[in-house]
Amino acid sequence: MSEPETPRVAVVGDVVHRPAQAWTPTVHALLRHLRASGIAGVPEPLGIDGDVETVRLLPGDAGPACWPHQASERGLASAARLLRRVHDVSRGWQPPAGAGWAHPPAASTDGQTHVICHGDPGPWNMTWADGEATGLFDWDLAYPGPPLDDVAYALEYFAPFRDDAEAVRWHGFAAPPDRRRRISVFARAYGLTSTDGLVDAVIARQEATIAYAASLAERGIEPQVTWVGGGHLDVLAARVAWSRANRGLVE
Ligand SMILES: Nc1ncnc2c1ncn2[C@@H]1O[C@H](COP(=O)(O)OP(=O)(O)OP(=O)(O)O)[C@@H](O)[C@H]1O
Ligand SMILES: [Mg+2]
Repeated sequence: MSEPETPRVAVVGDVVHRPAQAWTPTVHALLRHLRASGIAGVPEPLGIDGDVETVRLLPGDAGPACWPHQASERGLASAARLLRRVHDVSRGWQPPAGAGWAHPPAASTDGQTHVICHGDPGPWNMTWADGEATGLFDWDLAYPGPPLDDVAYALEYFAPFRDDAEAVRWHGFAAPPDRRRRISVFARAYGLTSTDGLVDAVIARQEATIAYAASLAERGIEPQVTWVGGGHLDVLAARVAWSRANRGLVE
């Protein structure tokens, strides 16, 4: 979730200091597994000290600097390949006994094998260099789930499921994007053979985002407490409504 902004993260040299959660040890174990399996594009976990975790800064553009990179088809496809690679390497990994996550592991649906979903794989949580996605950070919201959850979440922002004015103003496009084509490019680069069902998957993931944010806020976890207090659930509900009303633009 990219907005509203909350200054909770400090970068000192090449070390990122972020709030630790109860489940951060699980996330660090995952990051160690991914890196040991050859994925250099996820942060090296450095430590947990009280309520602060430290991870290594990944090189490249990140945060709001992502938008021009992701606007090109090359950038778009590279992000899909990165997500697929991370999913593939997470499949079959056994979390430590008693591992906790931000969200309870999803029940297995329609036979999909679980991976570890990143949970927030928007372009702003990727690092970018030479027009391609090179890294994926901010693993706070990871959970065991079907890979389609992450594909759908990413597509909301990469397509994007936003109106033309917002796409041009905020998403780095020079002209309104061809969302259908971008969904198809992302799906193919991820390794899907069809885009069937993806729009419904995006809407379902948008609805799940509302439930996840509400649940984290109810448990007293920041920044969701602040977001929900500031009316963010209404913003999320409006996004679901947009997706339902604008299917013709995306499929
Ligand atoms: N490991 C990292 N490598 C590179 N940049 C990072 C890393 N961790 C954090 N950053 C930078 O710090 C910013 C905020 O970090 P992070 O995404 O972890 O926090 P956040 O508050 O959860 O953000 P958001 O809600 O926007 O996803 C990022 O946009 C990025 O610029
Ligand atoms: Mg982030």
